[in-house]
Amino acid sequence: MPRFSSLFLLPFLALVNAQTSSTASCSTTLTPKNAAPSVAPGWDVKLVAAGLTNPRAIIFDSSGHLLVVQQGKGIGSLSLTDNGGSCVTAGSPSDLNHGIELSIDGKTLYASSAEAVYAWDYDAGSSKNTSAPRQLIGGMSTSDHTTRTLLLSRWAPGMLMVSRGSTSNLDQQAEDITSGHSQIKAFNITNVAAIYNYDTDGVLLGWGLRNSVGVAEEPHTGGIYSVENSVDEMMREGQNIHEDNPGEEMNFHGYLNGTKYVQQGGNYGYPSCFAAWDVGTIPDNTGLQVGTQFAIGDQNTTINDTFCQTDRVAPRLTFQAHMAPLDIKFNDNGSVAWITFHGSWDRTNPIGYKLSAVEFANGSPIAPANSNTSAIDIVANLDNSKCPDSCFRPVGLAWDSQGRLFMSSDATGEIYVVVKSDGSSANAATPSSILPASGTGHSASASATKPSAAARNGLSVWVVVIACVVFGVFY
Ligand SMILES: *[C@@H]1O[C@H](CO)[C@@H](O)[C@H](O)[C@H]1NC(C)=O
Ligand SMILES: *[C@@H]1O[C@H](CO)[C@@H](O)[C@H](O)[C@H]1NC(C)=O
Ligand SMILES: *[C@@H]1O[C@H](CO)[C@@H](O)[C@H](O)[C@H]1NC(C)=O
Ligand SMILES: *[C@@H]1O[C@H](CO)[C@@H](O)[C@H](O)[C@H]1NC(C)=O
Ligand SMILES: *[C@@H]1O[C@H](CO)[C@@H](O)[C@H](O)[C@H]1NC(C)=O
Ligand SMILES: *[C@@H]1O[C@H](CO)[C@@H](O)[C@H](O)[C@H]1NC(C)=O
Ligand SMILES: *[C@@H]1O[C@H](CO)[C@@H](O)[C@H](O)[C@H]1NC(C)=O
Repeated sequence: MPRFSSLFLLPFLALVNAQTSSTASCSTTLTPKNAAPSVAPGWDVKLVAAGLTNPRAIIFDSSGHLLVVQQGKGIGSLSLTDNGGSCVTAGSPSDLNHGIELSIDGKTLYASSAEAVYAWDYDAGSSKNTSAPRQLIGGMSTSDHTTRTLLLSRWAPGMLMVSRGSTSNLDQQAEDITSGHSQIKAFNITNVAAIYNYDTDGVLLGWGLRNSVGVAEEPHTGGIYSVENSVDEMMREGQNIHEDNPGEEMNFHGYLNGTKYVQQGGNYGYPSCFAAWDVGTIPDNTGLQVGTQFAIGDQNTTINDTFCQTDRVAPRLTFQAHMAPLDIKFNDNGSVAWITFHGSWDRTNPIGYKLSAVEFANGSPIAPANSNTSAIDIVANLDNSKCPDSCFRPVGLAWDSQGRLFMSSDATGEIYVVVKSDGSSANAATPSSILPASGTGHSASASATKPSAAARNGLSVWVVVIACVVFGVFY
């Protein structure tokens, strides 16, 4: 069970408009732990908070507090107003490790550990839980991929989606649908009479999903999308093809409104079938394109490319191998999906370590499934060769009420905010305004963008002012 400890305070930077800013007693400027991020033209990125412990998923409550799951420590609450006062840290451990969600009315908070999902009554005004935790779901205590992403449907009230990964790189138990491994399920938490068992209860949205940490609901159709961290060290017909295969996936899981999407609850391939990224380096690649599912290892009479293409659900989009997508959040308009890429370890030249945008229209990505340029880089590390040790590593995303995009970096203990340089809402940025004057071409997902003039010169429509903020905590 999570435990509760006394309040603590953290140093914290609030973003305030230049006209309304005031300097608090502990005013300083936070600088990123590593090199400042590079950013696409027309965009700006600033550090908002530092010194956090492995910040993972983030969410705003109805009073504007930013709730942060600090992996292994608990949930912290960052207030964006300047409260002044002293800045001290304290705390105690907890098993909460990633997932966080709020009810639509903002009065119930949900969080997950490797084993369980809990709910608390929550008061956004004080940013405190007003009840002890209630366990809603259990039976998930498996090893290796232990985050349990939570997402409450806006379209099917009461349905809480829970994403659970595999127990190893190649988890053979995931072939067994009753194992509960590598699945996304939805649970009706309106009235939980008895604690749900993940393996035996819930509505299956998909299985054969190695570790789909990011889950999102498209705001205009209610379509459920996830982003999957695919396999490492992949072999095919005796050759090691892991450098650029398989691709990371964006999968579509249909709707929760009762309309049965034909592939809902289907198997998405893992641990037998994977999506091609660099087709040229795959042996026996006849008929493969970017995103085509193909068999791992030596093809045989049960697991082969034909099986992978006919009996397994293909991804809707494929991204460069090993970039490790961890969150996906749509803008309100449904025209852009923002995706964090935590970054690679299983590749000679590090890749990922960035925030990208994918264009959507009418509930689907604009790019075809065989595209290898669907992700537009917005914020990246300047020099990926210095990753992971000297890089920020994007994890969670959250929109604030002003349409600014907040992003956590667990490895550096930081929270960044991403805004449009011209002061317009990042949430309202549509595909045509993501990269002004970029024409139809997208920046290759492989190359980091150069810092904009604004970022280089430190010019910005925002002024960063320190504030010291009460960190009301659930442990
Ligand atoms: C808040 O939650 C913690 C457990 O996470 C619990 O110990 C504490 O009692 C809760 N607070 C209230 C007011 O119930
Ligand atoms: C969830 O359960 C509640 C109460 O049993 C019910 O009214 C609601 O329709 C259910 N939601 C869905 C999406 O099935
Ligand atoms: C469910 O949502 C889909 C996509 O928005 C829509 O086409 C379908 O008609 C909806 N079904 C119901 C029962 O509302
Ligand atoms: C591929 O596997 C399927 C069953 O999964 C089987 O029917 C088919 O014969 C296999 N193809 C070859 C060439 O072995
Ligand atoms: C076919 O290949 C799969 C994946 O490598 C393996 O798990 C399975 O045991 C093989 N089946 C046979 C009959 O060789
Ligand atoms: C999103 O915004 C664009 C540009 O303002 C507009 O053309 C489009 O219709 C909007 N889409 C939706 C689903 O609201
Ligand atoms: C995308 O595919 C094209 C054609 O196969 C290739 O030339 C290009 O290098 C690929 N881009 C990336 C980013 O892999």
